[in-house]
Amino acid sequence: MKILVVGGGGREHAIIWKLKQNKRIDEIHCAPGNGGIAQLATCVPIQATDIDGLTDYAKKHHFDLVIVAPDDPLYMGLVDKLQAEGIRAFGPTADAACIEGSKVYAKYLMQKYGIPTAACEVFDDYDKAAIYVNSCKTPLVVKADGLALGKGVIICQTTDEAIDALKEIMVDKVFGEAGSRVVIEEFLEGPEVSVLAFCDGKTILPMESAQDHKRAFDGDKGPNTGGMGTFSPSPKYTDEIRKETEETIIRRTVEALNAEGVCFKGIIFFGLMLTKDGPKLLEYNARFGDPEAQVVLPRLKNDLLEVFDAVIDGTLDEFTLEWDERSAVCVVMASGGYPGKYPKGVRISGIDNVRNAVVYHAGTALKDDAFVTNGGRVLGITALGVDLSDARVKAYAEVKKVQFDGVQYRTDIGIK
Ligand code: AMP
Ligand code: GLY
Repeated sequence: MKILVVGGGGREHAIIWKLKQNKRIDEIHCAPGNGGIAQLATCVPIQATDIDGLTDYAKKHHFDLVIVAPDDPLYMGLVDKLQAEGIRAFGPTADAACIEGSKVYAKYLMQKYGIPTAACEVFDDYDKAAIYVNSCKTPLVVKADGLALGKGVIICQTTDEAIDALKEIMVDKVFGEAGSRVVIEEFLEGPEVSVLAFCDGKTILPMESAQDHKRAFDGDKGPNTGGMGTFSPSPKYTDEIRKETEETIIRRTVEALNAEGVCFKGIIFFGLMLTKDGPKLLEYNARFGDPEAQVVLPRLKNDLLEVFDAVIDGTLDEFTLEWDERSAVCVVMASGGYPGKYPKGVRISGIDNVRNAVVYHAGTALKDDAFVTNGGRVLGITALGVDLSDARVKAYAEVKKVQFDGVQYRTDIGIK
């Protein structure tokens, strides 16, 4: 079997690492991949957003399956295009990926079908939005409608900050057309938990919970990032909360999509906030989270290809997911300066010394047979342990073996 994986970060490395456990797969290609992925797969320099380039490559190489991992190509219709060419593909079609690609659409679904979420109003006119903001209590949250590289959500402590956010998004168009519409939302409080689920259009199978750390520095200080580390499971996601979430949020989402005539096949990521009034849904993503995949996939006992096949074939109802009881902690090692400006091409040493953890490469490249940095988030080091604290101690012991100039990581992943 021959598989193409689209994407080139830590998430894609984790997907390929997991697929490699299946002996039926002879060959994996990855576009564009990275330095670490190149050890497991043939990397091809086609960007994940080059829809035509990827489709041509998939046709030429006769892949049995193409797995589309990142949000942009899903929303841009890569899966639709591959399917139209008769190529088997994993991931939602563009209309289904709208649950992530348009926050306005996501909120419409949540409100229409009674899925617990923050109260909100939608605007496509700056003046009307500004009048509304002036009538609101603060803090409040301003969100650009479309994909904005994870930066389209602005938490505003004061009315002035909210007006500034509206100007940036709607007038200055800092996120381009993604900011033609905004969602203005009630500010919620509570711990955040990510729950991912496989969905075949009818059946939805939730995975084990995970928790991300979005801020750059210890103690949740500093700017927002793509995610500085994760752990799984989340002790805050108790059996009772799990039951309520599955009923009021997870299953209701599939019913809502079906009622709207949308068949979602792929992974739905539920970004939850556990408020004092119960679990509420902040957002959907239409894919694995990064770095959530790096803690959830190492705990999944099932064969990943079999799960992907069941999703595509609509046979998830016959499937049971099985989990490693151990906890996982992933610590992200980032380039100095990230999420601001950072250097590239810095030599990384010590990866070979890591013994009790898996090193998932995110922003790395190979240069003269050595790994160098090639992005903001460079590596994710995942360890398993009997409990969270054991996994954390093991992960950090391995992190200390890896070095590069300027390296920056949080020392409190898994503590909160
Ligand atoms: P989103 O992309 O919608 O998940 O938003 C990114 C982050 O912004 C979330 O992970 C939360 O930390 C925060 N956030 C989003 N919506 C709200 C809200 N209504 N109240 C408080 N924080 C929020
Ligand atoms: N870690 C959050 C995301 O992948 O969007």
